[in-house]
Amino acid sequence: MLTVRAPATSANLGSGFDVFGVALDRPADVVSVERADETTIEVSGAGAQYIPEDPAKNTAGVVAAELDAPARIRIDKGVRPSSGLGSSAASAAAAAVALDALYERGLTGEELVRVAAEGEAAVSGEAHADNVAPSILGGFTVVRDDGVLSIDAEVPLVACLPEIVVSTRDARGVVPDSTSMDDVVHTVGSAATLTAGMQRDDPTLVGRGMDEHVVTPARAALIDGYDDVVAAAEAAGATGVTVSGAGPAILAACYPARQRAVASAMVEAFENAGVDARAYRSSVG
Ligand code: HSE
Repeated sequence: MLTVRAPATSANLGSGFDVFGVALDRPADVVSVERADETTIEVSGAGAQYIPEDPAKNTAGVVAAELDAPARIRIDKGVRPSSGLGSSAASAAAAAVALDALYERGLTGEELVRVAAEGEAAVSGEAHADNVAPSILGGFTVVRDDGVLSIDAEVPLVACLPEIVVSTRDARGVVPDSTSMDDVVHTVGSAATLTAGMQRDDPTLVGRGMDEHVVTPARAALIDGYDDVVAAAEAAGATGVTVSGAGPAILAACYPARQRAVASAMVEAFENAGVDARAYRSSVG
């Protein structure tokens, strides 16, 4: 038996819609695989009751089919579905890495990202490699049609997950079809700032680079308490705050000395808005 841990991830970081992603230290999915004549899947852990065990409908099962690597797959979910923390991507990423090792296929990191993204696509309808890429490669990642870049970085992050559900379908439904040239210019400036911040391990630049005026405001409206949580995080020292992936999790960047205070402030602000929440402190890496 072979066991792989794949971390939760946060996609977009505001200015990099469908492009940027970061690996978080926690939560994580743990996937165990054993060779078998045909693929079977058992799911336990966070939100397991919402996750199909039919291999054709589970990201890990689709990955097994893509790799022609039948296995008994056990998934212990640390990342609950519809969280904005790359839940289905974590299972797909872990399955791709585990099955590649189990069957000694020797795929490169970029090939594993492509296989895991196929798993995501088959289940969610659209392939977003911005979650599977950091789950497999670690660090901060930039995904384009022609490949993936990954950058090691040390920037403290807080991902705060409220006990509400926002489906990726709904969150994509509110994204505007088009935008103004002013917004394009602003977003490009933010994305470049954020990338430079990751390369320099600079929380101020990373936070400033999260600012984005098209996708984020539309999605923020789906998250109860969003404005209060952002204000509380900023008052506690966050350098930038945005929606994590499709939400409802909210991601903040900060300096190491402020990380604990930012996490507490975000949880408290959600609770003041009547929503239970928990925070995960992490560093891109
Ligand atoms: N980039 C995707 C989105 C991530 O924000 O919709 C979720 O799959």
